[in-house]
Amino acid sequence: MDLVPELKVLLSRDQIAKRVAEMAQQISADFAGQSIIFVGVLKGAAIFLSDLARQVPLDATFDFIGVSSYGNRPIAAEDPAGHAAWDSSGEVRLTKDLDQSMTGRNVILVEDILDTGLTLNYIQKLLLAHQPKTLRIAALLDKPSRRKQPIQAQYIGFSIPDAYVVGYGLDYAEKYRNLPDICVIQNP
Ligand code: IMP
Ligand code: MG
Repeated sequence: MDLVPELKVLLSRDQIAKRVAEMAQQISADFAGQSIIFVGVLKGAAIFLSDLARQVPLDATFDFIGVSSYGNRPIAAEDPAGHAAWDSSGEVRLTKDLDQSMTGRNVILVEDILDTGLTLNYIQKLLLAHQPKTLRIAALLDKPSRRKQPIQAQYIGFSIPDAYVVGYGLDYAEKYRNLPDICVIQNP
């Protein structure tokens, strides 16, 4: 029999909305009078990107990048989707490349959560190879205690403790992305 996972709200939809609005204001001020491109990391950043970008009244376009990472999951079991949920290699693989060139652009890389830092380090290198005018990182969540590779994010929504969270785009085995609040998942 499946255990029903227990979900406990860590960040409510109101707290998230307030913070995302503040981040949007900061980005709007920093890039006033300039054009920007939001690059979302699939799939977790999709909801954050759409809420953030709609509050940035600048000349803006979107692109998306897809990566699959190993070594960043705290759950040492195979997930219900059949993915190997844990691996120590720390390998990041590109599953969807950018559609456009980032050369000379103001790039805001939008990510749901900054955990070990491996994913963003990989994507940052890939983006820097395009020689953008500027590259900044906006991460809704940060788990600093889990960091394995240093990474500088200019816009961080919330710093959270080392717990597995779902909702507002974040998944466990592809589920729970549609929850409006960010919840800690127990006995997944
Ligand atoms: P990093 O490479 O370890 O920094 O991992 C970043 C990626 O791991 C994120 O884009 C998420 O997809 C995933 N991740 C890390 N922690 C969590 C979590 O608590 N919930 C859901 N996904 C997570
Ligand atoms: Mg992700």
